[in-house]
Amino acid sequence: MTRITLIEGDITEQQVDAVVNAANSSLLGGGGVDGAIHRRGGPQILEECRRLRASHWGRGLPTGQAVATTAGRLPARWVVHTVGPVYLEEEYDVRAEQLASCYRESLRVAAELGARTVAFPAVSAGVFGWPLEDAARIALGTVAAEVPGVARELEEVRFVLFGVEAYGMFEQVWRAMASEGPGE
Ligand code: APR
Repeated sequence: MTRITLIEGDITEQQVDAVVNAANSSLLGGGGVDGAIHRRGGPQILEECRRLRASHWGRGLPTGQAVATTAGRLPARWVVHTVGPVYLEEEYDVRAEQLASCYRESLRVAAELGARTVAFPAVSAGVFGWPLEDAARIALGTVAAEVPGVARELEEVRFVLFGVEAYGMFEQVWRAMASEGPGE
């Protein structure tokens, strides 16, 4: 059974097979997780992103989708870039589904690569403005639902939360889900 774990820390330091990047559709870098991964991972990542843009993703990676590159100098083997939705209350339903898709697609890509351990940040909960509690609910709920499907391949899915507040919120949501039990 795949373990789902939560830690407070820096996703660029994780000794896992695949690190998920909270990218934007350009795949050409940014701030937050994206900036940290490119900064620490080095230019190889951006070179591969540029090749992806020049080939299959000419118009950029659509929201909710995921694509893998090398992890360059990171301790991981791959970076799975996914594009979260920007929070917009008027379009909550559509965008919440896009956020769930980021987790589903990133797990699918990581499993296809043969990754055994995957680290996620709190996608969309930073610059893209998704309220932290709801971002946690969607992240944990989606991964918990997906795990039986990819369990054969994955040993661990690790949420790496940046700072005490984010970690505390994910823990709180995770405990609440555990007490609700399946399917309620
Ligand atoms: N490790 C783990 N989590 C981190 C790190 C890090 N090194 N740096 C930031 N975070 C956290 C943020 O605190 C937030 O909780 O990751 C979460 C996602 O924040 P962002 O990185 O801002 O990602 P997102 O909200 O999805 O916005 C994506 O921001 O950086 C740009 O190019 C990126 O345009 C894209 C947008």
